[in-house]
Amino acid sequence: MEIFPGAVHLPRFLSLAEQLELAERCQAIGNGPTGWYVPTVRGGGQMRVRMVCLGRHWNARTYRYEASRRDHDGRPAPPLPPQLSALAVRMAEAAGMRLLPDVCILNSYDAAGKMGLHQDKDERQDTLAAGVPIVSVSLGDTAKFIIGGLTRKDAKTMVPLASGDGFVFGGPSRLRFHGVAAVLPHTGPPELGFDGRLNLTFRQGASPP
Ligand code: SIN
Ligand code: MN
Repeated sequence: MEIFPGAVHLPRFLSLAEQLELAERCQAIGNGPTGWYVPTVRGGGQMRVRMVCLGRHWNARTYRYEASRRDHDGRPAPPLPPQLSALAVRMAEAAGMRLLPDVCILNSYDAAGKMGLHQDKDERQDTLAAGVPIVSVSLGDTAKFIIGGLTRKDAKTMVPLASGDGFVFGGPSRLRFHGVAAVLPHTGPPELGFDGRLNLTFRQGASPP
């Protein structure tokens, strides 16, 4: 379902079995040796999510991508598993777009989790200019995902992102402001066996050309 030109919601893209497998993989990474941490942003505030970046690391202090977690524990970013990249490519294709992801930012939200309105614009200039999409995959509790325009004050719409949903935003929508206003507790499939929400965003252009 096209929300804006280039912004496509893919409800229930993943089967329950696929959600389970993906959730288990994400939890294993997050609970592993180079796992979850709470980023502190430029202004000194803590984000309302736990994060792990795969493939490259997004430094919340500098808003730049780098090889290792210099704003946290200095460990190299874990690799981006090819099965995850393949999922992102498949979702982009279903939305009529293409990307070759070099990074996935994995976010874990608890019942109080949210993410302020922002643009994803830290990727390489050539991929931003080309409108190479962001591919977002949601698991667990439903989020109230907010998406607006190219300036912060533009009108916004709310898209509920439920477990197994994809959301692809590229082309003229690549730089739209977006965020997560709230996570709705106990709305995810009980079979997944965890509280809260996981979100994966795949991006191209986090590595040097
Ligand atoms: C993000 O904007 O980077 C994450 C969005 C989400 O959690 O749905
Ligand atoms: Mn974002």
